[in-house]
Amino acid sequence: MPVTAVIGGQWGDEGKGKIVDSLCDGMDVVARYQGGANAGHTVKINDDTFILHQVPSGILHEGVTCILGSGMVVDPVALMDEIDSLEQLGIDTTGRIQLAYNAHIVTPIHKAMDRATGGVIGTTQRGIGPAYSDKARRWGIRAVDLRDLKKIGKFILDRLKISVQQGEVDSSTLGELKPEIESFLLAANRVVPLLDDTIGSLQGALTAKKNVLIEGAQGVLLDIDLGTYPYVTSSHPTVGGISSGLGIPSQLIDRLIGVFKAYATRVGAGPFPTELDDKTGERLRETGAEYGATTGRPRRCGWFDAAAARYACQINGFTEIALTKLDVLDDFETIRVATNYHLQKDKVASFSTVAHTLELVEPIYEEHPGWQSSLSQLTSAGQLPENAKKYIDRLEELTGVPIKQVSIGAERTQTLIR
Ligand code: GDP
Ligand code: IMO
Ligand code: MG
Repeated sequence: MPVTAVIGGQWGDEGKGKIVDSLCDGMDVVARYQGGANAGHTVKINDDTFILHQVPSGILHEGVTCILGSGMVVDPVALMDEIDSLEQLGIDTTGRIQLAYNAHIVTPIHKAMDRATGGVIGTTQRGIGPAYSDKARRWGIRAVDLRDLKKIGKFILDRLKISVQQGEVDSSTLGELKPEIESFLLAANRVVPLLDDTIGSLQGALTAKKNVLIEGAQGVLLDIDLGTYPYVTSSHPTVGGISSGLGIPSQLIDRLIGVFKAYATRVGAGPFPTELDDKTGERLRETGAEYGATTGRPRRCGWFDAAAARYACQINGFTEIALTKLDVLDDFETIRVATNYHLQKDKVASFSTVAHTLELVEPIYEEHPGWQSSLSQLTSAGQLPENAKKYIDRLEELTGVPIKQVSIGAERTQTLIR
């Protein structure tokens, strides 16, 4: 089983961190291929809660090499803070983190631009969109450029001038930027020893038949091409992002796990057909502790959207699903699932026919009786209550993909294998 990938099937925060962590035993390499510090991946181990932003969740497993791939946009300040906190928590990261030469770099200017312009989308304000824009305009800076800090200093000053001229940065906040730039240059210097030929490392690992785990950030519906544009992130969380973001041939990915919550959430703006703007939505938020791991924002909550999930499964070719947070539905008398949508009273043919006009669709729901008992202590899938089994079977049928793992709590041990 040389290459396994874990991809978020919805709008992010599906529990990828937990699933990646549970798969790390026996892994040699864990690699991120896209995104940056906009991600917040939570791993709970007994009394400790780790929230990973840029470092792959594999870092919590001794001996695993962690790669930050070429498709990422990396913030050196946030990266060094993350590494420092991991070290403080007793995780030895020495020699275990490799940063791709070609990864692009998020500077304080990008973050200032995101603070000034990211409001409409409700971005995480981590500078992601502006850094990917500079990459696409071919004037971004790459990790390898950090070896020449003089060049970086000049880039930052030139970029700042242009941003102010074009009104991309709020000029009343320029005072705050000076200390941010100083911290950036210090952190950039500390990041240089992490630079590595990650493509060569991965190729070497593949040739030696080592086990490689790929960790997606965000989710399918936030993909810049295949998601709910413009309310998306600026990278490719979908499967195609893996080959371009890491240099791994797609045919080598033999296990492709889509992670889906047993209901749906979304942070930030954009259409969300099954959103519950009522007491039931609040109940999901409170029971599921649905608050952002990166920004602390309350997540919008709603029922499982099988029309969107089917689309996610088709375009990625998931070989299996990991269904998370099933325990959050424990007390619900009835659980709804959107099987499809109506658009102006007509049943739609598929998600992709309405993806560009999603705010106009009406979900078609079916209702399932809840199980109304606690799942969190179960130790095998056979012990699941009948109604929970039926709910899982129905999601399998609606998505067309086998659900092989069911997560019933945030802890490492709370995963049932089917
Ligand atoms: P990620 O970004 O996909 O890694 O997900 P996040 O970490 O942002 O959000 C998932 C949240 O749900 C985290 O707080 C996890 O600890 C928690 N979690 C993961 N799986 C389960 C589960 O099966 N049940 C419950 N109750 N919580 C879970
Ligand atoms: P993980 O990896 C959930 C959302 C933001 C916003 C949009 C664009 O933890 O699942 P960006 O800062 O990327 O330009 O914001 O994408 N978003 C996420 N939502 N989970 C994430 O990551 C997200 N990363 C970005 O809320 O709507
Ligand atoms: Mg998250």
